Amino acid sequence: MSSKNRPFVFICAGMSLDGKISNYKSEQIPISSDNDKEMLLDARAEADAILVGGNTLRQDDPSLTLKTQKRKNDRIRAGKSAEPIKITVVSNAGSLDLDGKFFTEGEGDKMIFTTAKTTDRRIEEIRKKAKVYVLGEKIVDLEKMMFFLFEEGIKTILVEGGGELNASLLEKDLVDEIRLKIGDLIIGGRDAATLVDGEGFDLLGAKKVKFQSVVQGKNHLIVKVKVVK
Ligand SMILES: NC(=O)c1ccc[n+]([C@@H]2O[C@H](COP(=O)([O-])OP(=O)(O)OC[C@H]3O[C@@H](n4cnc5c(N)ncnc54)[C@H](OP(=O)(O)O)[C@@H]3O)[C@@H](O)[C@H]2O)c1
Repeated sequence: MSSKNRPFVFICAGMSLDGKISNYKSEQIPISSDNDKEMLLDARAEADAILVGGNTLRQDDPSLTLKTQKRKNDRIRAGKSAEPIKITVVSNAGSLDLDGKFFTEGEGDKMIFTTAKTTDRRIEEIRKKAKVYVLGEKIVDLEKMMFFLFEEGIKTILVEGGGELNASLLEKDLVDEIRLKIGDLIIGGRDAATLVDGEGFDLLGAKKVKFQSVVQGKNHLIVKVKVVK
């Protein structure tokens, strides 16, 4: 898929020094001792839409909101909606908590991409709170999803993980940029989620990146890379 007929897609994540994005209990722990979320909130303010994987939604219950009125006002002044659209992908949307923050907090519209595994009854229930699209039998066709979102006018997508979704998007060459906050922490754990999980790439399939910038803070590094196509 050409990057000209899909949105610009960037991953933004907080990562421990050893590459983990949560611990072995799937707990959301501060990745650096400053616990500062500015980079992520700035990234949200920049994006037309925010995309998260089903596990992140089920485990973290993120609101995916901008938190301050100033950020919303800046977007409105720039001709955008007050908050970005929230998007998730799940094979069976029966697993989603419709009372969670994703559905109940903030001003962003909501979109659910799912598969034929979700029952018609469940789709009708969710449609009271969000737009629902069925794009596949067992897994959502992510390329089709990106093309559809582009046609809907979404030009920039922030991906907020987790490791499985990041891997699927990278595998399909659907990621343009990665912004990382690397914290002053080692989490360990062979079962803890990392920035990119999935099956893994072989030597020839490994993705190359080009470093754009590295900024050192007191308790963290901010690293920005472009994914080489
Ligand atoms: N530190 C950070 O910046 C950060 C950011 C985000 C998340 N996290 C952490 O990451 C962990 C979760 O990561 P994860 O790797 O386990 O999961 P994930 O990537 O959030 O979600 C994976 C799930 O998303 C759904 N999915 C992804 N691609 C799909 C496709 N093409 N079609 C259908 N469904 C698809 C599937 O849900 P179904 O099982 O329903 O099919 C899949 O099991 C959490 O512990 C969270 O705290 C950390």
